[in-house]
Amino acid sequence: MKKTTALTLLMISLFASAQQETIDQKVNSLLKKMTIEEKIGQLNQYTGDNSATGPITINPNKQTEIKAGLVGSMLNIIGTKYTRQYQELAMQSRLKIPLLFGQDVIHGYKTTFPIPLAEAASWDLTAIELAARVAAREASASGIHWTFAPMVDIGRDPRWGRVMEGAGEDTYLGSKIASARVKGFQGNKLGDLNSVMACVKHFAAYGAAVGGRDYNSVDMSERMLWETYLPPFKAALDAGAATFMNSFNDLNGIPATGNAHLQRDILKGKWHFQGFVVSDWGSIGEMVAHGYSKDLKAAAFSAITAGSDMDMESNAYRYNLAELVKEGKVSVDLIDDAVKRILRKKFELGLFDDPYRYSDGKREEKELNNIENRKSALEVAKKSIVLLKNENETLPLSKNLKTIAFIGPMVKEYKANMGFWAVDLPEINYDKWVVSQWDGLQNKVGKNTKLLYAKGCEVDGDNKEGFAEAVATANKADIVILSIGERHNMSGEAKSRSDIHLPGVQEDLVKAMLATGKPVVVLVNAGRPLIFNWTADNVPAILYTWWLGTEAGNAIADVLFGDYNPSGKLPMTFPREVGQIPIYYNHFSTGRPAPDENAKGYVSSYIDLKNSPKFPFGYGLSYTKFDYSGLKLSSTKIKSNENIKVSFQLLNVGKVTGEEVVQLYIKDKFGSVVRPVLELRDFQKVKLNAGESKTIEFTIDKEKLSFYNDKLEWNAEPGDFEVMIGASSTDIKLKSNFELVD
Ligand code: GLC
Repeated sequence: MKKTTALTLLMISLFASAQQETIDQKVNSLLKKMTIEEKIGQLNQYTGDNSATGPITINPNKQTEIKAGLVGSMLNIIGTKYTRQYQELAMQSRLKIPLLFGQDVIHGYKTTFPIPLAEAASWDLTAIELAARVAAREASASGIHWTFAPMVDIGRDPRWGRVMEGAGEDTYLGSKIASARVKGFQGNKLGDLNSVMACVKHFAAYGAAVGGRDYNSVDMSERMLWETYLPPFKAALDAGAATFMNSFNDLNGIPATGNAHLQRDILKGKWHFQGFVVSDWGSIGEMVAHGYSKDLKAAAFSAITAGSDMDMESNAYRYNLAELVKEGKVSVDLIDDAVKRILRKKFELGLFDDPYRYSDGKREEKELNNIENRKSALEVAKKSIVLLKNENETLPLSKNLKTIAFIGPMVKEYKANMGFWAVDLPEINYDKWVVSQWDGLQNKVGKNTKLLYAKGCEVDGDNKEGFAEAVATANKADIVILSIGERHNMSGEAKSRSDIHLPGVQEDLVKAMLATGKPVVVLVNAGRPLIFNWTADNVPAILYTWWLGTEAGNAIADVLFGDYNPSGKLPMTFPREVGQIPIYYNHFSTGRPAPDENAKGYVSSYIDLKNSPKFPFGYGLSYTKFDYSGLKLSSTKIKSNENIKVSFQLLNVGKVTGEEVVQLYIKDKFGSVVRPVLELRDFQKVKLNAGESKTIEFTIDKEKLSFYNDKLEWNAEPGDFEVMIGASSTDIKLKSNFELVD
């Protein structure tokens, strides 16, 4: 390394540590001035009253308590006007410690992006980071310092409504996305005006709730915890995540909020996490309902002892910690550690220099939902759409179509495109700034194309009275586009469903449309994988359009008419029936693996159902076709300190430009513990023009072959491996073998 570079780096690190030392010095000198009540105040977070994201506790004294320095943070305070008002209250306190404002900016603040599960379907880390970056720019312009995102819970159970907030079932893809989202939210560094603190949630294993029922228990081996559920949290931490949020569930009998193994041993111990942990809404107090804590005081003891630094909305710390310290049951050192973690972030955000620096109305006006941000939202939305079926080249639609019947309960919806966690902005008129699917088609078609509309039916309920009008409308058209699915409040928190079939009579509407003999295209809008077997088997063209946010209508129109060639791939397995759940691609072989999806007898399968998913992980079609050839390995035998270069040719053999997500899977043929039938270990999203080819390269190193062995050590074991290149987890195009020799 050149001398100057080394010297420069040395200067930077000395400056940084000097600056850091300054912050630590400021934290320590402030701490010395604080009373125990003021210290506990910093650990106390209340919600604003304009929107509740949990069971509200009525407390008319919040503002008085803020002025008395007894509140450290507020959530659900929206906009520069209100954040400034609340900050002014905090500035009346004795030590003038500024409030932190947190908000669930999960996939956009005002400009709303596709739900995270849809973004995951883009497999485009740059697009995913961009979405978080825009969300951070808008939120920070509205006085928000801290978003309660990314949610990085691995989701293998589509009955769990919160799969919509995550990145799906795969640990490798989920870890890459977790890192991209943290970088997007936090930007270059905390304290930049267009950055917000990330909050990695929900720590941990919340997505494995028994039965897919939200808040339910989780029981899993330490191995599964480390192998499948923890890596995305570690990836987010390695990306610099400022905060963590713990989860509602009990894990192996101990609620996460009171789980020292999770928060002390792993997060703050082994992983050396220097930020702070906020409890989920009321989760400290809920340890009483768990039957883990006798009362709120016991819950406060368990939570602070286990490493929960801030108490969201349970009042456990507010009313019990001082007494626990006085009784000698809780050391003031524990309190001080939590307070210092929180104060450090307030200093890093520059709030002591200027408590109002994020509450600038002019910036808010310029930043929110501007053209640039909407363009980004459109880009990400297009990339998130998954083409599930396209027989007889039904899609893309011709722009010379005379009459299109656009039918279904989602066609003219606005809010339904926004998803469960869209920020609840006051005085919002969604029809003024969200592009419905109907608007999108109107924006797209020329004056020679007539658009007809019929609702057909509601999203749920059994009323078929609208079918006749829908059929009559379809009969007047050249083609039917049918938009069905879930409304925005049918997936999300506390929205687990025991039956994930298309709700209501929507599939009957599909049948009625097909019965007209017209060509039918179906758009499925949902926050989770749904079951729609009849539709999937009988409709020639199907797009999975998730909940795509502000630009939903334009994105869908671009894909319908081929102005964007769909490139999404499923981040979650779609089951045939609920009975298959949990079903995920990287399962173990078992001693009696079913050789094919129809195998019965003494094999691991169902006697009443095919032994395969309806749509597999990593699956998605294109308007073009790609040819994979010429797999080469730089070696078929490597030592653990060596790597293998894997290369192959990808050729676009179709007529239009397209993007393909090429997936690298590894199978470890045997190990000190059983290994999955295959595991995603790398991917690339490649854009090729018609006729264009490209050499794609991957590198396999020891890290890609490693796993938690029978002693729970992360290591690679010598033996035989298979490398596969797939267009999905079941569409393996090329494969070869190699050996790890030591
Ligand atoms: C909710 C959610 C959590 C969210 C928090 C604040 O209950 O579980 O994800 O960040 O409360 O709204």
